[in-house]
Amino acid sequence: MNPRNLFVTTALPYANGAFHIGHIMEYIQADIWVRFQRMRGATVRFVCADDAHGAPIMIAAEKAGKTPQEFVAGIAAGRRQYLDGFHIAFDHWHSTDSPENTELSQSIYRGLRDQGLIDVRSVEQFFDPVKGMFLPDRYIKGECPKCGAKDQYGDSCEACGAVYAPTDLKNPFSALSGATPELRSSDHYFFRLSDPRCVAFLQQWTRSNDRHGQPRLQPEVLAKAQEWLGEGAAPDEPGGAAVAGGKLADWDISRDAPYFGIEIPDAPGKYFYVWLDAPIGYLASLKAWCAKNGVDFDALLADPTLEQVHFIGKDIIYFHVLFWPATLHFAGRKAPDRVNVHGFITVSGEKMSKSRGTGISPLR
Ligand code: MSP
Ligand code: ZN
Repeated sequence: MNPRNLFVTTALPYANGAFHIGHIMEYIQADIWVRFQRMRGATVRFVCADDAHGAPIMIAAEKAGKTPQEFVAGIAAGRRQYLDGFHIAFDHWHSTDSPENTELSQSIYRGLRDQGLIDVRSVEQFFDPVKGMFLPDRYIKGECPKCGAKDQYGDSCEACGAVYAPTDLKNPFSALSGATPELRSSDHYFFRLSDPRCVAFLQQWTRSNDRHGQPRLQPEVLAKAQEWLGEGAAPDEPGGAAVAGGKLADWDISRDAPYFGIEIPDAPGKYFYVWLDAPIGYLASLKAWCAKNGVDFDALLADPTLEQVHFIGKDIIYFHVLFWPATLHFAGRKAPDRVNVHGFITVSGEKMSKSRGTGISPLR
């Protein structure tokens, strides 16, 4: 067999904090595989980037008294020592807040729109009248509608475990300003994943083998994907999409200004939800690497021998085996060849996480 031609990525870390050892574990895993493939004679481009966009980063920047751009630049400047310290040899590290990503995201969106897969619908959501913005679920708090526990988040109760919508909370308040949120409606853009074409494509893509006759997905990952795509499945998943009555629900891909993100073409005041442009950042990073190395990006992506391989953690399977392949395919591009999924480094049985205060620094 000819030497392999590979495009390999790890998940793009949120640009709101330093790495913990969970991130580094993923990079080491991918780096080992990349070195192994190179020893076998493969040509490999191994890239990553900062995932810069979204409401939490915008809010963190504001708290730090910086613009979002300054804030993420500060995080990016700190990455080097971790990667060098562990001899992790990415060919390029980029940012989703980049001209390459803006151009690619807007062009991919236009491709989906041309396929008739974008819908505009009015959505009712909580609005913070003091901050002048719609509130992401995690910034709405209140009393649990089931047990009455105070100070619970907008999606679930930490006291009794109930799961609900933010609009079910009693005495809701904005975690940003303390104000009582108002219900307001606004137009949102949806990727019509419920379209039979999408469902049929994902059924086929998730189950099919790669060009080496190997399954694209590990058996556990395929089982989960089948559950999401199959009958009678499952509750809401993060990212605004749900599975209802055995089919994928449409995915809300827009957010209203103010939002740190990429503007949606022909939709003033609307931005792509961060999870739309984040995986496109894989391509943006490859494109920047190509420009640096005099390689024709479009020709490389069009090369039928190129294999696209992603390394990710199990919390983001949904985005990588449903939304991402569908996004690429229906925008007229090649879907990924393989998605390699790992589990978590845990602390007291829970995912190590910086926001939970359990992140162990790789520098210690
Ligand atoms: N920004 C998104 C990914 C976008 S990809 C287009 C994100 N970022 S993250 O910083 O939260 O996670 C980055 C990667 O680190 C993910 O693959 C995630 O699963 C992994 N890990 C985060 N915490 C981890 C552990 N405690 N253990 C192992 N991996 C962990 O998700
Ligand atoms: Zn409760």
